[in-house]
Amino acid sequence: MSSNELRKKFLEFFKKREHAIVPSSSLMPDDPSVLLTTAGMQQFKKYYTGEADALQDFKSKNTASVQKCFRTSDIDEVGDDTHLTFFEMLGNFSFGGYFKEESIRFAHDFLVNNLNLKIDYVSVFKGTKGVPADTESEKIWKKVDPSIEVRKFGREDNFWGPTGSEGPCGPTTEIYINGTEIWNIVFNQYYSHPDGKLDPLKTPGVDTGMGLERLSMVTRNVKNIFETDLFRPLLNALPEEISERNRRIIADHLRGIAFLLADGFRPSNKEAGYVLRRLIRRVLVYGERYNIPPHVFEALLHDVVHEYGKFYKELMSTSDVIHTEFALEREKFSRTLARGLKELSKESKIDSEKAFRLYETFGLPYEIIKEFAGERGRILTRDGFDEEFRKHQERSRAGLEKKFGGHGLLLDTGELKAKDEAELKKVTRLHTATHLLQAALRKVLGEEVKQMGSDITAERTRFDFSFPRKLTPDEIEKIEQLVNEAISKQLKISMEEMKFEDAQKSGALHFFKQKYPPRVKVYTMGSKEEEFSKEICGGPHVLNTDEVGKFVILKEEAVAGGVRRIRAAVL
Ligand code: ALA
Repeated sequence: MSSNELRKKFLEFFKKREHAIVPSSSLMPDDPSVLLTTAGMQQFKKYYTGEADALQDFKSKNTASVQKCFRTSDIDEVGDDTHLTFFEMLGNFSFGGYFKEESIRFAHDFLVNNLNLKIDYVSVFKGTKGVPADTESEKIWKKVDPSIEVRKFGREDNFWGPTGSEGPCGPTTEIYINGTEIWNIVFNQYYSHPDGKLDPLKTPGVDTGMGLERLSMVTRNVKNIFETDLFRPLLNALPEEISERNRRIIADHLRGIAFLLADGFRPSNKEAGYVLRRLIRRVLVYGERYNIPPHVFEALLHDVVHEYGKFYKELMSTSDVIHTEFALEREKFSRTLARGLKELSKESKIDSEKAFRLYETFGLPYEIIKEFAGERGRILTRDGFDEEFRKHQERSRAGLEKKFGGHGLLLDTGELKAKDEAELKKVTRLHTATHLLQAALRKVLGEEVKQMGSDITAERTRFDFSFPRKLTPDEIEKIEQLVNEAISKQLKISMEEMKFEDAQKSGALHFFKQKYPPRVKVYTMGSKEEEFSKEICGGPHVLNTDEVGKFVILKEEAVAGGVRRIRAAVL
């Protein structure tokens, strides 16, 4: 039976048993306190609490759905036999209609009589302090089929509900087939308060969830979810030299990407947009690593849209957007992807701080850094990385507050901007790097190179200069190399104050657009005999070029006729 048929069969089964069939809600939840839709019951929460009336809205106290779900908690496990980010959840729900006996009978009937499956065993809640065991469910199972083994588990396994927040919750009974948990049936009979206190619910309800991928796996009797028709065709469309694990990751992520884009998410640096960006970038990294031409991923996205679009019409209607947004993100990431991987390969040890710098500079997501770092990233953890991320966001927020609180930036020369000490250190290094860059540009491209503008933030320097054409990759490499040589030579940086005319006579570069005062500062990098760079400048600079760190050119582009722009970073 195909997965398409399974979806239909499930819905028909419950339709016949007086359930209203409700379409999947969007992956973008109504409830702004959650990032993504993670379970079928989410769209029905208000019917359990009594805030809304199911009979009025659905003409029935019972519903069934096939729900699009996305769980970020499993993202690091994707690639093994069981974990996914995006998956489909088959579920039946009741809001004061039926309770334990009917739920258990429905599930048994559907699996055993309709799909001819054999249940290994079921589990019920054995009770904990203050919460009684679910002896009712145990008795019902014995009645339904005395040959079924009933195992008893604790709160971890057989109790469902919000942890640390409020909402309906209760004991569960779970059904296992071929060693896999197939169906989770939740009996919402309590309301959990934020302090953990449980009150009985006025109207007990049923919330069930069965992963379509797992159900498809056991009905086909295949080894794992990736052998089902939901995945195998996608995996087979990928080049053979890609390992099975990585093909699974690509297929999982492409499904997630298509569904997230169809529901209106866009790649960004925060919240769910960042989840989407990570999925796309991880796929693109494998593309780079295995030299997969872009049309391969496009074809796969096309397959996802057309295969899943039979059931989820929104995929069809947003097909253009899905392809365009994917291509746009590829465009954005391609500027730094190869450079980022190269830098990553050079690092001998990668901790959370370094990983975050690689993310900040090259847009490499955590999971890519972790995977490619291998042994070198042993001490790198998701928590450590998230902590760096949080610190960074806090700094940004503090900075913004400072800026808009009327206190201004810590440093704002027009060219350099920094909001705190940490940023000040960074922009100072970038500023010195910018002088080295100008000198190197003139050495490689000739003296016709003149500064046209410069803008330095904690993330990067942006330098505009006059030059008539695009730079060749060779030229870019040479320029970068010259700057890094100057850094490794540990050139001293000295400053001298003098009259503007004297500074001009000394050959110090200056920025013709700027008006200089009668007395100016001149910064020289390198000894008198071997001056690498000399510019009229207000500072600040580091004292020795080796403080700059590693210099990398991120991008070269045109800004206007005869004017080029380079973006560069320091690591
Ligand atoms: N809400 C339950 C689950 O997600 C059914 O497992």
